[in-house]
Amino acid sequence: MSQVQIRPGPRRATRDGLRQFVETFAADHPPLSPGAADLTILDPERVRRKYGGVFNYLTRVELEVERNVLELRALMPDATETDRFFYEDVWSPQELQHGILLDAVQQGFGMTPAPADLTNVRPGIRVIGVLSHLPGMLGVIRLLYYLTGAATERSAVIAYSRLLDGLGAMGERAIAETVIAPIRRQEPGHFAFYRMSAETLLGEEGLSPWQLHLTRILRRHSFDLVGVNNRHQRAAFGDVARALGFDRDLDGIARQVSLVERELLWARHQGMQVPAYILSALEEAIALSIARH
Ligand SMILES: [Fe+2]
Ligand SMILES: [Fe+2]
Repeated sequence: MSQVQIRPGPRRATRDGLRQFVETFAADHPPLSPGAADLTILDPERVRRKYGGVFNYLTRVELEVERNVLELRALMPDATETDRFFYEDVWSPQELQHGILLDAVQQGFGMTPAPADLTNVRPGIRVIGVLSHLPGMLGVIRLLYYLTGAATERSAVIAYSRLLDGLGAMGERAIAETVIAPIRRQEPGHFAFYRMSAETLLGEEGLSPWQLHLTRILRRHSFDLVGVNNRHQRAAFGDVARALGFDRDLDGIARQVSLVERELLWARHQGMQVPAYILSALEEAIALSIARH
């Protein structure tokens, strides 16, 4: 399986280095164009059987970027210039094209798109947005945003890498090479952005002990797997995890997904152990998936 390779910028992340990174990344990775994709599938029924649920899940999550942007606006009315530039102008146009491409593939093997929630900002997010004006809260919310982003994008890198390998092994080279590989190349840059942002926030701007303490509590209680907002979606995540073989090395997956928060949030507290909230969320999703099949 491929690993994340991008580790850009200066060793110690800075605000200027971060801005530079986002501008370079945007220039190097324009949103993918569907016209460049070859949607030929040799054996649609086989792809559907093996990866139908994976395409369906990833399509929904990528398309829900539209709602994610609304949530980010509500969550951080005073977002930094770089955060806003990244999520409005770089990240969301890229993710939207990922969704459109994946959707084209799944329609090619006769899969109906899963209902995507593009507009409903959860009420809790608006409340947190109001709280962000309290002294010190914006730092806590920003760190949670970066940690969530890092875990999500790391999951995406692993998922697309496994899907790429799996489709390649089935001989489905057209969609592997012209859809999944180009998508997979954009995800490590997203991960790098969140990691550098979190490092810059802690290294250059600094958070006080109470802010870190609150972040730990909120992270532990608010964590969920990417794209999971209800029980049905949790089981669907479990299907994806099983189709991609996550269940064969759950601990290794949890280690990768939790990398940035282990380093920045927990290292001094509990060492570099995998946070239990991540491992148990994965286990629960897989158990639900097994139970419904
Ligand atoms: Fe994506
Ligand atoms: Fe991404």
